[in-house]
Amino acid sequence: MRVGLLFGGCSGEHEVSIRSAGAIAKALTIGDNATKYEVVPVHICKDGSWISGPTAQQVLDSGQPLVEDASATTLAASARLSQRLPNLSDLDSVDIWFPVLHGPNGEDGTIQGLFEVLKMPYVGCGVLGSSLGMDKLAMKSAFAQIGLPQVKYCGVSRSQIYSNPCIFPKLCDDIEAELGYPCFVKPANLGSSVGIAKASNRRELEAALDSAASYDRRVIVEAAVVAREVECSILGNDNPQASVLGETKFNSEFYDYEAKYTDGSSQHLIPAPVPDDVRDRIQEMSIQAFRAIDGAGISRVDFFYVEETGEVLINEINTMPGFTATSMYPMMWQASGIDLPDLVDQLIQLGLERSA
Ligand SMILES: Nc1ncnc2c1ncn2[C@@H]1O[C@H](COP(=O)(O)OP(=O)(O)O)[C@@H](O)[C@H]1O
Ligand SMILES: [Mg+2]
Repeated sequence: MRVGLLFGGCSGEHEVSIRSAGAIAKALTIGDNATKYEVVPVHICKDGSWISGPTAQQVLDSGQPLVEDASATTLAASARLSQRLPNLSDLDSVDIWFPVLHGPNGEDGTIQGLFEVLKMPYVGCGVLGSSLGMDKLAMKSAFAQIGLPQVKYCGVSRSQIYSNPCIFPKLCDDIEAELGYPCFVKPANLGSSVGIAKASNRRELEAALDSAASYDRRVIVEAAVVAREVECSILGNDNPQASVLGETKFNSEFYDYEAKYTDGSSQHLIPAPVPDDVRDRIQEMSIQAFRAIDGAGISRVDFFYVEETGEVLINEINTMPGFTATSMYPMMWQASGIDLPDLVDQLIQLGLERSA
């Protein structure tokens, strides 16, 4: 079976995606997988063009992005389309796609839509699940609908933030009255904490709104909570299974980009040291959240656990979590008795099952 491993992509998580794909490619050459699967690497450059063959293999092996030609973005639409897709024989030979893409243009339903149009099987969540999982406002509405507890939040649009100077102060007044300080301001559709800021006063709120609006038309503001950060991994289609929990600790003020990707600046505890009833509740809520977005195959669900009160609040669901050597998703399954080769095998089989 030929697995089209799609990696890189046009998001801030391009580099992480290359490393995730490297780990998956390796796992597909181990044990029974070696005779079962053949990897067809397809790299999406930062400019959106697709590359297959030896260059894609080289990116995968080196773990490093290509130095690129920015001229591609100035091409006409038809030229861009033909240039972006690798030669058709590569496409035809793929039996199932594994889109190892994080963030916008990959984890958000866009690539999933392309595979639907092509009628080709793929690993992971479909169009709806991926796009609901990407947009923090839409995701929170889906969670609220089934009564999952979450922090207080409100949605703001770029046009409100960039509105005339008479309206902006009123917007900030409303946010202050509704949520108070400190609060978190986030672009609705990014990942890896990019564009996220914690605001503790009016000046910081104004700056954070301005910054978040530069990344996205949709912005979310949340009341800040003081809590432990606990995660649970999901594997399955109609009968999703929940893994043992993991906990992430870090020294920074919040789990920002530096803490996520600088070696040694965060620690992972697996299994998370939480009481059994909290563990059970989080596993149950993870499965509910996965179903609420119409998840498929894979997801990692992140929570805030307020130890003093025992309260558990859902933070977010990630439909294509990282797969690097230090990523929580594969580590939580490892601790649950499923090693990486077995995990990628199961994910591919779940993708095939879903398309059948
Ligand atoms: N409401 C909140 N209260 C406290 N900390 C928060 C809150 N929202 C986000 N954070 C911190 O910011 C980090 C990134 O936020 P998150 O919503 O998970 O964005 P991303 O999708 O980029 O991972 C969280 O892991 C947490 O450390
Ligand atoms: Mg997060």
